[in-house]
Amino acid sequence: MPGAEIIEVNNLSYRFPDGTQALHQVSLRVREKERVAVIGPNGAGKSTLLLLLDGLLAGEGRIKILGTEVGRGNLTHIRSKVGLVFQDPDDQLFMPSVLDDVIYGLCAKIKSPDPEAIEKAREILRQLNAEALLNRSTMSLSLGEKKKVALAGVLIMEPEVLLLDEPTSGLDPAARRWLISYLSGLNRTMIFTTHNLELASRLAHRVILLNAGRVVADGPAAEILSDEKLLLDNGL
Ligand SMILES: Nc1ncnc2c1ncn2[C@@H]1O[C@H](COP(=O)(O)OP(=O)(O)OP(=O)(O)O)[C@@H](O)[C@H]1O
Ligand SMILES: [Mg+2]
Repeated sequence: MPGAEIIEVNNLSYRFPDGTQALHQVSLRVREKERVAVIGPNGAGKSTLLLLLDGLLAGEGRIKILGTEVGRGNLTHIRSKVGLVFQDPDDQLFMPSVLDDVIYGLCAKIKSPDPEAIEKAREILRQLNAEALLNRSTMSLSLGEKKKVALAGVLIMEPEVLLLDEPTSGLDPAARRWLISYLSGLNRTMIFTTHNLELASRLAHRVILLNAGRVVADGPAAEILSDEKLLLDNGL
C-alpha cells in the first residue's frame, strides 16, 4: 500500500506565453507507490501538469519530488528518477531507429549498444506486441506503433516515478491489456492522465479531476469514478 508522500505540489499555476492560463493554484500530494489518475475534459490542464512535474515547463508555485525541488539546476537529477511518456509520441521519439530510441536512456554509447539493453528492448516490445518494430525506422511508424516505442523507451529505464500522458490511447487491445497488467504489477509511483475511465478504475488508487486548470475533486478512485453527477458536470 502507498507509503510516504514523495510528490508535493503547492499552489502551482502556469500560463502559456500566449496568455492561456492552463493551471490555477493546483496543490496535490502523491504517496510512494500510489497510482494516481488525472482525469478531466480536453484542455483541462492534464498534460501541462505532467510537463511541469518533469520540469519541462516552469510555473509558479512549488513542486517537490523525492525530496528535490523541481527547477533549474536539478533537472538532470529529477529526470534520473522520473520518466515521462508524452501524449504525442512525436514529441518523444528522436532517434532515427527504433532500437536506438528505446535503448537511448540505458546506453551511454549507442554506437556499441550493450547486448543486455537490446534484449531488454526486444522483450518490452515483444510484450507490447511490437517486436517486429525493433529494426524499423522511427519516422515510418504508425501513430500507435510510435506510442509503443515511446512507452518502451521509458519503461526500460524503470524510473522510480512514472508520468504517463494518455498511456493507452492509440494502443491495440492486446497491447492495452498488457500495459495495464504490467503497470499494476510494477509497484511504482505513477501519475497518468486518461480519458478512459475504465483504465482509471482498473489502475488508479486515487483520481484527481481537473477542469479548466483547477482541481475539482481528489479522492479514492472508486468514490470519484462512481460520482456520476461530478463526472457529467465536468464533461466526462
Ligand atoms: N503550447 C501552448 N500554447 C498555448 N496554450 C496551450 C499550449 N498547450 C496547451 N495549451 C492550452 O492549455 C490548456 C491546457 O492544455 P493541456 O494540453 O494541458 O490539456 P489536457 O487536459 O491535456 O487536454 P487533452 O485531454 O486534450 O489532452 C488548454 O486550454 C490548451 O489550449
Ligand atoms: Mg493532454
